[in-house]
Amino acid sequence: MKKIPAPMTDRHSPLSYHDLLATWQQWMDEAPDFPPLDQWLRKQAKRGEKLPFSQRQQLHDAMMQAMHFRQLADALEILFKDPEFDDWYNWDMIWSQNSLPKAIPQHFWYWIQLRSGENWQTPYQLSQQKERRRHFIDCRTRVQQQEHPVLALLWYGIRPNWSTLIEDRAAASEWTPQARTHFVRSQPHRPPLWLRPANMIDDHQLTQLEQALQQDGVEAGLENGRLQATGGSDIFYSQAFKNGELEVQDLASQMIAESLNPQPGDKIWDACAGAGGKSLAMASVMQQKGSITATDINGRKLEELKRRSKRAGYRNIRSFEWDGDSPLRLPAEIKKQGGFDKVLVDAPCSSSGTWRRNPDARWRTTDRRVDLHKLQQKLLQQAARGVRQDGLLAYATCSWFVDENEDQVKEFLKQNPDFTLLHQNLLGSPEVNSDTMFVAVMKRVS
Ligand SMILES: C[S@@+](CC[C@H](N)C(=O)[O-])C[C@H]1O[C@@H](n2cnc3c(N)ncnc32)[C@H](O)[C@@H]1O
Repeated sequence: MKKIPAPMTDRHSPLSYHDLLATWQQWMDEAPDFPPLDQWLRKQAKRGEKLPFSQRQQLHDAMMQAMHFRQLADALEILFKDPEFDDWYNWDMIWSQNSLPKAIPQHFWYWIQLRSGENWQTPYQLSQQKERRRHFIDCRTRVQQQEHPVLALLWYGIRPNWSTLIEDRAAASEWTPQARTHFVRSQPHRPPLWLRPANMIDDHQLTQLEQALQQDGVEAGLENGRLQATGGSDIFYSQAFKNGELEVQDLASQMIAESLNPQPGDKIWDACAGAGGKSLAMASVMQQKGSITATDINGRKLEELKRRSKRAGYRNIRSFEWDGDSPLRLPAEIKKQGGFDKVLVDAPCSSSGTWRRNPDARWRTTDRRVDLHKLQQKLLQQAARGVRQDGLLAYATCSWFVDENEDQVKEFLKQNPDFTLLHQNLLGSPEVNSDTMFVAVMKRVS
């Protein structure tokens, strides 16, 4: 196979502190509502002076670290000035409403630099730099020795007021203390990029795919029979990706698609299909037999689904817009059999299970998710009407919050005694190194 060169790198040029502060300032000025950071950075990279590749990478990583540790940096500054401070829950509430003065950028980035273990070349000496470093080391020791529970959460990018969400999750999933600690500590660490073969292949072909990626400079490997990339060249430059032989899809997301056990011949409705992550994964095992009806409120996402589906060569996915306000008008052949065999509601959610990859998303999550809960319940109720007798209904999110998951399923089952719960599970992290998602599979029994 022809070797594809990796993108040009210039590993030896360090990120300039000036570029870092300028980008941070722009983000703070231009993006008060905080759109997805990686998209914003991509747009920035296209505008104005182009930074060399490695500096762009470093800038990207630095901004991501800042998103993980934004609140920690402000907390470290507070404790530096007032070691006795302990009004954390009030402080957190006001902080999250953006109405507190934040640490000045030089101090902020000093804390981010220490926490992320980076070594950016600052062009100046900070006031009380030695004392600040000592303070940081003291705080780290307090976290390690579990002397300060609030700081121990902030240290891993978790807001003090989210401690109840973690406790609720630990109780619902019956986590051991070790699993809870592992979950919290893994938050600032990006999981590997999980890859999914576009079609059913055997173990030998999977190994060949792994080797082809390695030849193209991707650090690819198999973990429990699943393909992942942990570094090296950009996967999108690999021949296997260009040939449409694989898709990038988190392992937990793959597991959601598998939870409905899609089979050739099934008639499936993916009610919140978006750009098609789950639809494509289901189609990949259906051998072009049966059909997938993919709907979403957002037509632009469905266009992306169509593009991806064409690239993978699937001919059994049709898509159209559906806003969830009323039951779907069933296509004739589906009506004839009394509904779909399987329906998936991959509902809009806080995305808390993807914070390890998109650390900025956590700052868009509000404490009051009432509207989101209503939308989740509405979509589930409406989609349920499309399930035939003895058919399956899966409810999924990329969130680990109990109120978006088990609580929604409980409410749905209370109102719909014609459905019974087969199983519900948290998927991915902390059990495996991936995002954290949730799926409940129910059966329509009457
Ligand atoms: C978690 S995402 C789905 C991701 C997708 N299943 C995938 O695997 O790529 C939730 C989707 O719900 C859609 N959505 C939001 N509100 C909706 C509504 N009222 N009706 C239908 N879909 C909606 C969003 O556009 C979004 O694509």
